[in-house]
Amino acid sequence: MSAASLTAEAPGKAILFGEHAVVYGHTAIVLALPLTTRVTVFGRTENDGPTYNGSREKFEANPYLREARRRHPDAFSGRTGVTVTSSIPPGSGLGSSAAFVTALTAVIGEGSVAAEGASLHAESFLTERGAQGVGSPVDTAAATAGGVLGVGEAAEGDRLWSVPAVGGHGPWIVARLPDPGWTWVVAYTGVPKDTGRTVTLVGERLQRSDGRALLESIGEVSRRGQRALCASDRPAVARAMEENQRLLLELGVGHPRSQELLDAVKGHALAAKITGAGAGGSVLALPAEGRELDVARAFARAGGVPFIVRPATQGVQRLATADPSR
Ligand code: MEV
Repeated sequence: MSAASLTAEAPGKAILFGEHAVVYGHTAIVLALPLTTRVTVFGRTENDGPTYNGSREKFEANPYLREARRRHPDAFSGRTGVTVTSSIPPGSGLGSSAAFVTALTAVIGEGSVAAEGASLHAESFLTERGAQGVGSPVDTAAATAGGVLGVGEAAEGDRLWSVPAVGGHGPWIVARLPDPGWTWVVAYTGVPKDTGRTVTLVGERLQRSDGRALLESIGEVSRRGQRALCASDRPAVARAMEENQRLLLELGVGHPRSQELLDAVKGHALAAKITGAGAGGSVLALPAEGRELDVARAFARAGGVPFIVRPATQGVQRLATADPSR
């Protein structure tokens, strides 16, 4: 990496329908969030090993940076400095690692094959998956493209690109969906989740005799939810969210803290569900119209960290050169 400093920023995400099932090719519907991660890569004067937020140890301890370096050794040297600032709580299930790898890939891929759209997404996905060992391209799709998306082997909508198959699943189509313009409330339980471990445990759960049927049911709810979203049919979206939540509990990704948050918004929200991997992490609510603040307050009273959000239209973007001395 030269002495020049490059910065990119990418959004987090909340999954509306189909988490976990998307790993097996079913369609997930995802909203990009107006919470972002910003990554700057710059050349340091010292040549004593790459740093992450000023620390060589932190660089070596970060599985995403290690995987990015393994995939692109030329992009990293002993002088490379990486700094990250983020408004996405880490481990929250709101796409912090996908935003990180996607912004990082946009920086180190500038002028190369991973520069744009499909290739940037594929490279970001493979870096995230390489570091986690499992997973689908849904989070990195939101980080790359922004907006409201369907991601799955048979995703419907305005097709953007497809991501090559890996691990016996895919290729996944990434399709843009219309945003009905609603306001959502997400809340972090404060319990960090481990996506890789949760996806692995779900994989074991799916070995049982009803596993395939469970996946099919989630896929069917996701398709129904997508149709409802595209028709701006709030009650039907809410019904699909509740059904998806029930199926997520059957998958075994519930948690006492997420249940407390979900219970707290009954009466204020039309529906609420776990979003992302679960087993902690975050929840997503569709408030009754005009009740966004009530939902956010109820989440906060129950100990959650709420965010009132509209989907972010902007995916990853490269920014003007930042101060390399940060
Ligand atoms: C995590 O945000 C979503 C999961 O479906 C895992 C994945 O798709 O990689 C649980």
